[in-house]
Amino acid sequence: MAKVLYGLSKDKAMKKKKSSQAKGPKLLKSMIRHLEQQGRLGEEKNYIQHGTTTVFAHSVRVASLSLKLAKRLHLKVNRKSLLRGALLHDYFLYDWHEKDRSHRLHGLYHAGTALKNAKKDFHLNKLEENIIARHMFPLNPIFPRYKEAWIVCLADKYCAAEETIRPFLSAGKNLKCGLLSTMKRAGRKKIS
Ligand SMILES: [Fe+2]
Ligand SMILES: [Fe+2]
Repeated sequence: MAKVLYGLSKDKAMKKKKSSQAKGPKLLKSMIRHLEQQGRLGEEKNYIQHGTTTVFAHSVRVASLSLKLAKRLHLKVNRKSLLRGALLHDYFLYDWHEKDRSHRLHGLYHAGTALKNAKKDFHLNKLEENIIARHMFPLNPIFPRYKEAWIVCLADKYCAAEETIRPFLSAGKNLKCGLLSTMKRAGRKKIS
């Protein structure tokens, strides 16, 4: 009788406590697996988000950075909902580069589409819903309501900027390397 804690046996309660205390990367991994198996998160691998980064990779990066930000800022957050919201924040499930009437004005409307799809596939709490719905602040001019939603909103901006710039940076690096090796070759020819 004493073993029953909020309707759970002591063992089950301990297991639940342990899983909620799982280390960040481990929790992220198990969350990804769950969302892939129970829903359509894996479908995001088919769509490019920014530069050469898929929507899936972008969402995983945003989730990972959100967790790191919360830790760095010493914020007490609901880690499970933070990760679920971050992983599903761009769950719009189409290629926004393709011209199609159904996803016109993608920037303005995709948060709503992502929320609609996520609600179809998963049971979301208010926090997770707010993370998804408000991640496009300030383009969608309604403030996020929870600290977790603010964190994901900021992490998303950072990842989006970095993913957009990265291909140009690596192109610049390749160009620099190419120029240097051409100059070296030219120098060697002159000497000989
Ligand atoms: Fe987005
Ligand atoms: Fe995003």
